[in-house]
Parts: sequence; structure tokens; C-alpha cells
Amino acid sequence: MTLRELGNTCVVGLQWGDEGKGKVVDLLLADFDVVVRYAGGANAGHTVVIGAESFALHQLPSGILRPDVISVITGGTVIDPAVLLGEIASLRERGVQIGANLRISDRAHLVLPYHRREDVLAERTAPAAHRLGTTARGIGPCYADKHARHWAIRVCDLYDPPWFRSRLAAIVAHKNAYLAGVFGERDMFDADRLADEYLAFAEQLRPFVCNTTVLLHNLLRSGRRILFESAQGALLDVDHGTYPYVTSSSAGGGGVASGAGVPLTAVQSVVGVVKAYATRVGSGPFPTELTDEVGAAIRTRGREFGTTTGRPRRCGWFDAFATAYAALFAGPTCLAVLHLDTLSGLDELKVCIGYKHGGRRLTEFPAAAHLLAEVEPVYETLSGWTADLGACRRWEDLPEAARRYVSRLGELVGVPVRMIGVGPAREQMILMPQET
Ligand code: IMP
Repeated sequence: MTLRELGNTCVVGLQWGDEGKGKVVDLLLADFDVVVRYAGGANAGHTVVIGAESFALHQLPSGILRPDVISVITGGTVIDPAVLLGEIASLRERGVQIGANLRISDRAHLVLPYHRREDVLAERTAPAAHRLGTTARGIGPCYADKHARHWAIRVCDLYDPPWFRSRLAAIVAHKNAYLAGVFGERDMFDADRLADEYLAFAEQLRPFVCNTTVLLHNLLRSGRRILFESAQGALLDVDHGTYPYVTSSSAGGGGVASGAGVPLTAVQSVVGVVKAYATRVGSGPFPTELTDEVGAAIRTRGREFGTTTGRPRRCGWFDAFATAYAALFAGPTCLAVLHLDTLSGLDELKVCIGYKHGGRRLTEFPAAAHLLAEVEPVYETLSGWTADLGACRRWEDLPEAARRYVSRLGELVGVPVRMIGVGPAREQMILMPQET
């Protein structure tokens, strides 16, 4: 598959995450030299299937499976060193080469165990209606500390041990007081033990750490092709998603410049990845959710269980109204429609083309989550197909009804479809010769 005309590209999900970005990134990388994770942390779960092997990646960019590609984790991300080092060790055990091909920003913020504890306790103690259903990876508390600034620690802090120890001692005293005072916690963190543990992580990370802004600048100047890999999906974007049921970072394409430290002009194309239906993990409004046997069938056929938490994903019809809204701020120049094969066997397929609230058609995607939870989707119904699509490799191989369905999704979102996924394997992808 070659898409050289795309230039430097960002791959972004246009739903609530889990669209299949890992697979698209893995395929596109045949034509790129560098892959960049610019936001999020170990909450992400990207699955890449190569031959008979399946790899689930959380902290590492999907490009790590290609030794000739430089994988960069930039300052806009939050890093849990225990997860990252565990992932590196387990990939190495499986024969994946990780060395000079991995670069980690000295500006990235560190997730510490108190962040994970805070995440769990905040969820446990929030009134049921306000629980976010987080991945419990400490992402929200770590980004909160980053922006509050008093209690944050970055990768660079690890390489000045006396400074790190004294800063961590002050932070741990504050965190212990907070956890005890607000949540009644009795199990306190020991600053010295934590410092020993993180300084040991620092030595293992040392070969990978650098100023990734300078690195990317040099790579751009030397004409290397760069693929930016977003985490989660645009509807989970902290600024523009279904707030507060979002993650704490820029999950839309807008985070590339700030998160990776590259100029706005560094990106020429944006591939918007969607599934042929919709899924959501965790809490939050989901207007097209199917709680019936159709939703259950999609979950089973699409293997819709979280890569990070194993939670069953909520499944529903494709929401073109929400996806078109996501496309407004994520700016896709083309679409990749994945999991089309999952819909085989359904007599008819519905696509949400708008919302009604209080009997009136909404003209815009609502800002308030409680309002979004009350909307009634307006559907268009399309014919289904029965054929198994797994062996289709060209647009013409797809049944007429599947072609009509895909074309309609592109039309409703307002972005041309360029790729169609018909199964988990690398080769199960149809590349469109031109716009549909
Ligand atoms: P957090 O990112 O762990 O704080 O979780 C906030 C919300 O984002 C929850 O609804 C999570 O289920 C969701 N979320 C976070 N990461 C992912 C992901 O990679 N895929 C899908 N949902 C995610």
C-alpha cells in the first residue's frame, strides 16, 4: 500500500477511540521514516496484528514494530515508566528490536503511583452520575498536575537525583495529606522508596531520552517523512469532545503542534479513522448505543473489548452527525473506514444523520453532555449484505450494498473515503483508487 502523496500525516480517530488507528498507522508506516505519539499515555490501547501475532501497545507508538522506523514519544504525552519499560521488555522477548529506534522526550510528564490512586479514588467517591469510567491509569490526575504545575515531575527531573529527591519529597507530603484529608486514605506513599524506584527506571530509560523537539526539527529539515499518531478519538478530546466524558489531552489532530513541538505547517494530511459503526468505553452519552441483540452481535463479531482494561465496549450505529462534528476540528483530508466486515449479516443498517431534542431537530452538536444524553437520533436506513468481506481486496470486490454504505458514510461526514478495513490482518485493507 502506498500513499506517498499524503506528505507528513496525522492519523486521528473521529469517534470515541478504538477506531483501529494502530492498524492504519502500521500500514501507512511502510512509506514513513518516523512515527510520533504526541498526546495521552498508557490509557491508549493500539492493537496491531502481524501474521499470526497480535501486539497490544499502550505507551509505545505502533511504529515500534518496524525497526527501520524511528518511534518518538513527545513532551505532550504522559509516561508511566513501569508500563513503558514493561512493554519494552515484553516486546524484546518477542523478538522486537528496540534501541536507537525509540526516542523519548525529556519534557514528557511522569505518571506516579499516587496519580493512579487518585484516579481510582476520584471515580469511586464521585456520585454515580458523575463517574467518567476512566481507564484508572492516572491520566487525569497527571495532566491536572502538569497544568497546575506545583506538583508535577517531568522526565528531565529524573536526571538530577538530589533535585528529584527533594522535589518528590515535597510532592509526596502534599499528596499524602490530600489523599488522607479528602479520601480518608491510610496507606501513605514513602517518598524515599518512590525516589529509589523512579531513579532505577531513569537509568533504564536513559538511552532513549532526548529533546524530541530538536530531533523532529532535524528530521523534518532532512526531508524524513513523519507520521503523527493520535491516541483516543476526537470525541474524547479535552477541549472539543463530549466533556466531561473525555480524556485529559488533545485527542483531536489539534494537539500535534503543541504536543510534538513542531510547527503547524509540519502536517500536510490528516487521515480520519472511523469504525463502520460506533463504540464507546466508559461512561458518557452515546446517542446511537444499541443495548439489544444487534449491539451484542456487533460486540462479539467485532471483538469489542478494551485493549487496556478488557471492558466490554458499548456498541451502536454509526453516528454521522457526531463524526461530522469531530471532522470540523480534527480536519481529516480523507477517511479510513474500518471493521466493515463486522456488519456482514445484518439485514439493514442505520446511520444517524441528526438529533432531535424536545421534538425539535438540532442544528449543532450539543456542548452539554446532559443534553446530549437526552437527544433522540434521527436515522437513515440502508440495506445490509450477507457476504463475508474478509477476502475482498478491491472496491469492486465489495457487495453493492457495502459500497453504497461506505459511500454514504463519506458523503455524510463530508470527507472522501481512502481506505476500508475488512479484517484485522495487515493485508485486509482496501485502498481506494480515488475518491468515492
Ligand atoms: P482516562 O483517559 O483514563 O482518564 O479515561 C477517560 C475516558 O476516556 C474514559 O471514558 C475512557 O474509557 C476513555 N478512554 C481513554 N483512553 C481510551 C482509549 O484508548 N480508547 C477508548 N477510550 C479511551
